[in-house]
Amino acid sequence: MRKRVLSGVKPSGEQAHIGNYFGAMRQFVELQETHENFIFVADYHALTTIHDGEALRQYTLEIATEHLAVGLDPEKTVLFRQSDVPEVAELAWVLGCVTPHGLLERAHAFKDARAKGLEVNAGLFNYPVLMAADILIYKSHLVPVGQDQKQHIEITRDIAEKFNRTFGKVFIVPQALISEETGVILGLDGRKMSKSYGNTIMLFEPEESIYKKVMRIVTDSTPLGHPLNPDKCTVFAFHRLFNPEGLEELRQRYLEGSIGYAEAKKWLFEKMMEKLRPLRERWAELRRQPEYVEQVLREGGEKARAVARETMREVRQAVGVGGLR
Ligand code: ADP
Ligand code: TRP
Repeated sequence: MRKRVLSGVKPSGEQAHIGNYFGAMRQFVELQETHENFIFVADYHALTTIHDGEALRQYTLEIATEHLAVGLDPEKTVLFRQSDVPEVAELAWVLGCVTPHGLLERAHAFKDARAKGLEVNAGLFNYPVLMAADILIYKSHLVPVGQDQKQHIEITRDIAEKFNRTFGKVFIVPQALISEETGVILGLDGRKMSKSYGNTIMLFEPEESIYKKVMRIVTDSTPLGHPLNPDKCTVFAFHRLFNPEGLEELRQRYLEGSIGYAEAKKWLFEKMMEKLRPLRERWAELRRQPEYVEQVLREGGEKARAVARETMREVRQAVGVGGLR
């Protein structure tokens, strides 16, 4: 039997960037070949911060469209909307009743929001409990996430163990799958690519705009004709992602001083467009068919819900709510 992998992506209204792609999305696409893959749009989680109904519905559809464009295949992946499985909110309540308050007070997301003086609603405080419900309700084995979500998976494991000890073994204790290999994708300025640093290249932004950004990648001021250090160069780091076939040649030319940054950037831009083109074309096509994306989410939701209902039957039985069946 294939192990079940599950992950959630929060709709934010921001377009996916190259860091998101290599750090997360591409991993989902690879896993659908070897695992039973469940990927959902975490709209209930987004509701902790987005209070505009029309916008949230739109963002949800957009992020689903992006995930289909990069290669999630509805035949191989159950792609769904978190809120299409309301059982998850029911499980979050039950789990909340075995979750120590102190465990949630130590969560980074809550501590950061409070430190910044942001409004902390009860939903934000309970964010990790809902996330535990997401993972446990589908009896997931593996949860591919970024480093920033590691603590949430640890909290999920604590909650699952506590529940199993208290009520008998219902849940699988899941493991985080944190991709070490890609690690941190660098942005235009050489820091981690992140929307909060404004140093991103988006997967689906206009070609001219990508060209301008590539030309703006920060380099040192080594003059043309001098050797360059490939291991300390952001342009070279991008080549690793988009031009593995040309990497050895480029390394040689860096070391001999027979290429300048301008030429290395032009080559990078060509490779980037070559690799991104199929994704971008699929994206443009899917954007013209929102009903199709909606249908994928609906059908995925039905499959996910069947699993969730079964788990909830066991949970209700174990904790003693609802009539005997
Ligand atoms: P941002 O930092 O732009 O706000 P998010 O927090 O929305 O990005 O990230 C969503 C997913 O993409 C996470 O799994 C995260 O680990 C991954 N990710 C984001 N930026 C990078 C990066 N620069 N390198 C590798 N992975 C990244
Ligand atoms: N909290 C995750 C994030 O901000 C999104 C998420 C919600 C999630 N539920 C999940 C990720 C379950 C993995 C598993 O990125």
